[in-house]
Amino acid sequence: MIVGVLNQKGGVGKTTIAVNLAAGLVARGARVLLVDADPQGSALAWSSARERDPLFPVVGMAKPTLHRDLPSLAAAYDAVVIDGAPRANELARAAILASETVLIPVQPSPYDIWAARETVELIREAQIYKETLTGAFVINRKIANTAIGRDVAGALEPFEMPVLDAALCQRVVYAESAAQGLSVAEAAPASEAAREIAALVEEIASRHARRDAA
Ligand SMILES: Nc1ncnc2c1ncn2[C@@H]1O[C@H](COP(=O)(O)OP(=O)(O)OP(=O)(O)O)[C@@H](O)[C@H]1O
Ligand SMILES: [Mg+2]
Repeated sequence: MIVGVLNQKGGVGKTTIAVNLAAGLVARGARVLLVDADPQGSALAWSSARERDPLFPVVGMAKPTLHRDLPSLAAAYDAVVIDGAPRANELARAAILASETVLIPVQPSPYDIWAARETVELIREAQIYKETLTGAFVINRKIANTAIGRDVAGALEPFEMPVLDAALCQRVVYAESAAQGLSVAEAAPASEAAREIAALVEEIASRHARRDAA
C-alpha cells in the first residue's frame, strides 16, 4: 500500500498524519517506509528528534522523479507513507503519481475547504494516467461539539471525493509527541488521540483490503 498525504496548503496536518499513520501500520505488523517528499524535511526532523529506536526508516525524496524512483524501493515494504510538501507543483504531482491513495488533510475552516480544490484537481489530473488512484479527505483539528466541526463533511461534498469517517480532533498531544519524535500511541497510549489514530489506520487498511479484493 502506498499512501500519500498531500495538500498544497501549509500546516494542515500532513506530517502529523503521515508519521502517526506510519506508526499505526507498524503496530499492525507491517514493514513501513516513510518518505519525506517535502524539502522542509519535517518527517526527517521528527526522526532526528527521536531518542528511541526507529519504528520505521524515514528517507528524504523531495524529487520530481519520485513516482519513477519509488517502486524499486517500495518493493521491500508492506506499506509506504509519503509526507507531501505544501505545494501544488511538480513535487506534488510526483508524490500523487507515486501513490495508490492520496489523503488530503483539511481543517474545518472555510479557507481550508476552498484551498482543497487545487489538490483535488491534481488528483483528478493524475487519475487520467493512473485510473486506480483514489483520494479521500481526512478532517483534522476538529473541535468537538462545534457546528463547523459537524458541517465540514457537507461542505466538502461538492468535491465528489470521499471523506473518511475517522477524523482527528484538536489535541495538544499531537504537537507534544512530535517534539520528541514519538507517535501519539507511544507518547500517550491511552489517549483519545491514540484512539483516533488507530481508527484512521483501521479505516485505511480496510479500504485498501477492499480495493485489493476488487
Ligand atoms: N490534530 C491536531 N491537534 C493539535 N495540533 C495539531 C494537530 N494536527 C497538527 N497539529 C500541529 O499543527 C502544526 C502543523 O501540523 P503539520 O506540521 O503536521 O502540518 P503540515 O501540513 O505537515 O505542515 P506543512 O505544510 O508545513 O508541511 C504542527 O505544529 C502540529 O503539531
Ligand atoms: Mg509537513
